[in-house]
Amino acid sequence: MTQINVRVDGVTYTDDVEPRTLLVHYLREQLGKVGTVIGCDTSNCGACTVHLDGAAVKSCTVLAVQADGGEVTTIEGLAPNGGLHPVQKAFHEMHGLQCGYCTPGMIMASVDLLKENPDPSDTEVREGIEGNLCRCTGYQNIVRAVQQAAGEMRGAGSVSPAEVDTAAAPHVVGQA
Ligand code: FES
Ligand code: FES
Repeated sequence: MTQINVRVDGVTYTDDVEPRTLLVHYLREQLGKVGTVIGCDTSNCGACTVHLDGAAVKSCTVLAVQADGGEVTTIEGLAPNGGLHPVQKAFHEMHGLQCGYCTPGMIMASVDLLKENPDPSDTEVREGIEGNLCRCTGYQNIVRAVQQAAGEMRGAGSVSPAEVDTAAAPHVVGQA
């Protein structure tokens, strides 16, 4: 076992993990962060996407020990205090999901995309989320949702993850 210190969704954890433990398994099984889901065993689907030190990563491709000393944000910590991040709100309003299984990863990838490119074209959104697969929606409403969120975030100036609409919906969109 190896001891790691990692900050997840604003809380610092010290835990013993096996060196082979994947970050997604650590998050789900040791921390109970089941909003981050597993959709494949081939590193293809992106459903497990979280932010590690501010960048989107597929948490099934990262070892928990690689997050030692780092900061992880999951879909559960994207919008503190039970509210919605603008991207979550836009997915809700634009019907950017059907079964919702891809949604946690899709939202985390989209937030990372908008940080890099606050005004993406349709094509740039599609390229930005190409590592995330959705078997339900045909992607059209996902692209619309990302662009609506982009517009809202630009309109609001610099929107941090903590600046959320707490009245938008009774549940956290994208949290399984
Ligand atoms: S579960 Fe990580 S890419 Fe599919
Ligand atoms: S909404 Fe079902 S996989 Fe995307």
